[in-house]
Amino acid sequence: MSEGQFTPRVFSGIQPSGGLTLGNYLGAMKRFVDMQEDAYETIYCMVDLHAITVWQDPAKLRHATRELCAGFIAAGLDPEKSILFNQSQVAEHAQLGWIFNCVARMGWMKRMTQFKDKAGKNAENASLGLFGYPALMAADILLYHTTHVPVGEDQKQHLELTRDIAIKFNNDFGVDFFPITEPVIEGAATRVMSLRDGTKKMSKSDPSDMSRINLTDDADAIAKKIRKAKTDPEPLPSEFKGLEDRPEARNLVNIYAALSDQSVDAVMLEVGGQQFGQFKPMLADLAVDKLAPISGEMSRLMEDPGEIDRILAGGANRARAIATPILQKTYEIVGMVGA
Ligand code: TRP
Repeated sequence: MSEGQFTPRVFSGIQPSGGLTLGNYLGAMKRFVDMQEDAYETIYCMVDLHAITVWQDPAKLRHATRELCAGFIAAGLDPEKSILFNQSQVAEHAQLGWIFNCVARMGWMKRMTQFKDKAGKNAENASLGLFGYPALMAADILLYHTTHVPVGEDQKQHLELTRDIAIKFNNDFGVDFFPITEPVIEGAATRVMSLRDGTKKMSKSDPSDMSRINLTDDADAIAKKIRKAKTDPEPLPSEFKGLEDRPEARNLVNIYAALSDQSVDAVMLEVGGQQFGQFKPMLADLAVDKLAPISGEMSRLMEDPGEIDRILAGGANRARAIATPILQKTYEIVGMVGA
């Protein structure tokens, strides 16, 4: 069978572990919206089962899941067009995850750099779930016979593992059942860095709130953070190459380009020669223009959690309709007895 047997289908997930930033918006959500408008069937999941691989306070997890859903919708995802749901409502994820725990090899998992990073020095005290995380992620993807997965660079290794699991499963059972998924990796331009240190990724866990723009920030906070962002005293060059050794300046130009849907080269033509005193207010206006409506819409949606829960339940039903027959077929291939 050829790859053509699988309809183009996009799946991606974000952990509801609280705190959405401009990095999530430009690196993930904005691209999710673009794919929704293309000729793909799009499925976006709030991966709560993944979130609990490290401790989550239950009330905060519930809040973060709803807030992530609100963020998706405010960013432009339409629950009629895309399937939006939280992972735990579709039990098939955990069920296929178990099968993949039995396909993946210890040696493969031990090589995962994200596990090493997250487990840190005290790996003996990490949860077993954190170690098995990538097998559950493979299940998320393959449960829908997904063909395309938009993720950040840091997830590349997990996607390679997903392909290895699909290949081993197909080989072990002599079938051509799971597709070999294509990663759609974000470009460097969509990697948003800290506003205080251009060499570090913008992160919700940075101790300084000034280092990031939160999707819940209002217009004043957004403008202030951009005004105070770290820069250097030089004017902007007329070519992007000239920013190679100026990480903070490069980051602000990248953000400007991404928010205005232009290439960095086009931006340099426009802003080359400017001082930051001129560029920063322009960037602040643009950011407020694009982001304040999102934070406004998020807080409006969060006023009615019941409506969010209905959207998630509706998405879960649609997801299950795709997942159930694929899981059933998997069980049959593996040799599980059932009606
Ligand atoms: N591991 C991903 C991250 O931390 C989240 C994730 C879980 C995911 N399951 C997925 C992403 C399936 C893409 C597809 O960013």
